[in-house]
Amino acid sequence: MDTHCLVLQDLTKNFGGLTAVNNVSLEIRAGERRAIIGPNGAGKTTLFNLICGEFPPSRGRIFHFGEEVTQIPVHQRTALGIARTFQITNLFPNLTVLQNLLLAAQGLEKTKYVMYLPISSYQHLYEKAKSLLMDVELWEKRDVLVKNLSHGQQRQIEVCLALVGQPRLLLLDEPTAGLSPAETLSFTSTLKRLDPAITILLIEHNMDVAFELAENITVLHQGSLIASGTKEDIKANTTVQEIYLGME
Ligand SMILES: Nc1ncnc2c1ncn2[C@@H]1O[C@H](COP(=O)(O)OP(=O)(O)O)[C@@H](O)[C@H]1O
Ligand SMILES: [Mg+2]
Repeated sequence: MDTHCLVLQDLTKNFGGLTAVNNVSLEIRAGERRAIIGPNGAGKTTLFNLICGEFPPSRGRIFHFGEEVTQIPVHQRTALGIARTFQITNLFPNLTVLQNLLLAAQGLEKTKYVMYLPISSYQHLYEKAKSLLMDVELWEKRDVLVKNLSHGQQRQIEVCLALVGQPRLLLLDEPTAGLSPAETLSFTSTLKRLDPAITILLIEHNMDVAFELAENITVLHQGSLIASGTKEDIKANTTVQEIYLGME
């Protein structure tokens, strides 16, 4: 179990009478890129909320590199290396790209920003922000207000923000939603360039992206895990075919 980045055991989440996540067990290897697919309401975002600690499960356990994290709060999970992006953006639109990155980097520091310290005290934050922006090829946009970036660029900045804390597990909730085909391609290649040591769990409605990025795909339906396997396994799975054909 210790070699796994993430292990979910019999995870269930009830909201009143509704079972949003139903007895899900899952093992994700360190460095694996796994896509989670499934129709709207399947419980994908709820599963992410359980992994991040937004709320506790009704039943079941969660392990991160062998350490049980089922009951520990969000900020402690962040400190252990679990990071996420949201289905809805959480950037500051009226700040520049660089300012957004610096704020995120500074938020992780033990010493908070103080006015009388010279700017050189923050040189390491600047260097960190710069290297992350270089990685996603958006360094030249550093002085642009976030609201003036394209939707696709904003999504890339969100990934940058999640990477500030050097996570070991990165959870991306529908990162390509609303992107044009060209933006989706560029976003996909950004993800492919990330450090291969980072484990990525990706909720993705775009099958091409899921198949391109993930070696394994997990399918959720009505809270339950109904299939896990390679692209070929999933395409050939008759239950999966029925669910997706039923949606058309
Ligand atoms: N905080 C919540 N309170 C009550 N019901 C919720 C909550 N979050 C999600 N749900 C319900 O749980 C089910 C699964 O939702 P969700 O996890 O968002 O699905 P997905 O991300 O796969 O579209 C839905 O029926 C949704 O309405
Ligand atoms: Mg969702």
